[in-house]
Amino acid sequence: MFSKCLRRDGSLLSHGFEVNTVRRPSNRGISVAEKTKSGIPGLDEALHGGFPEGAVILISGGPGTGKSILMNQFLIKGAAEHREPGVLVSMEESLASTIRNMKQFGWNLQELMDKGLLALVDASPMIQNERVVLKPEHPVLGREAFTMESLLSLIHREIRRVKAKRVAIDSISTLTLQHKELFRIRHDLLNMVRSLRMSNATCLVAVESPTEESIGRFDVEGFLMDGVISLKLTRQGTVRIRTIEIAKMRGTSHQMNPLLLIINEKGVQVSDLPPIQ
Ligand SMILES: Nc1ncnc2c1ncn2[C@@H]1O[C@H](COP(=O)(O)OP(=O)(O)OP(=O)(O)O)[C@@H](O)[C@H]1O
Ligand SMILES: [Mg+2]
Repeated sequence: MFSKCLRRDGSLLSHGFEVNTVRRPSNRGISVAEKTKSGIPGLDEALHGGFPEGAVILISGGPGTGKSILMNQFLIKGAAEHREPGVLVSMEESLASTIRNMKQFGWNLQELMDKGLLALVDASPMIQNERVVLKPEHPVLGREAFTMESLLSLIHREIRRVKAKRVAIDSISTLTLQHKELFRIRHDLLNMVRSLRMSNATCLVAVESPTEESIGRFDVEGFLMDGVISLKLTRQGTVRIRTIEIAKMRGTSHQMNPLLLIINEKGVQVSDLPPIQ
């Protein structure tokens, strides 16, 4: 008789031989990866369970589309509700301003830092918070001495320190203006993506898209990442709405249609688009 035994990870053991099977998705649809809960109500359903664990995902969108709030919520909910430590890398906005802006949603970044569940890396061009004392080797974007290697080494140091499972980089737009040649931009980004993948943390990377149709500043960013999520401010009839669309997510099935992104006093949430009036 053929006896089969189902292991906890979903693989089958049959007469001592391993039978390769696709791992069970944590929700529905097809997936070969474990999933990381996004912390965004409604988004995990669209992702058929969550972000593929360890993936590097681009969050692309124009100004005010909700990139920063979404990425902070991913880190904060991960830390507070799943005990998954995170690292926030601030490349543009000062950390003081991020901490202040997130307070309106009742999110206390300082408290999570004190508990060792969150680390902040400041690589913004202007250091506005005088309490931040930078060591000479600290990478400051826009300065001659800035290198991708020094930035990555600082990020990895913080990932190791807090044992991070989640990373958010907000954003790489200025970083991509560091070089004039597209080849060097692509080279730096590729290094960043490969290096982040090695950490096994699930990483969200924000980038500005100058037009509604573009993904990222140079249209190369999306090709290098494991996933692409596009945020838009668009008009439906007489009202302006925010939408969120999963354009790509390697290793999993997902919803393809644009969804509604709502920002309110609790942060961001995702739901179906209302019917066109
Ligand atoms: N409490 C709130 N309730 C409703 N909407 C809010 C609230 N707080 C902020 N917003 C909206 O969120 C927008 C800012 O979102 P966020 O900072 O995430 O955008 P972003 O995509 O990161 O923008 P940028 O590219 O400029 O950094 C604001 O322009 C505002 O419209
Ligand atoms: Mg932002």
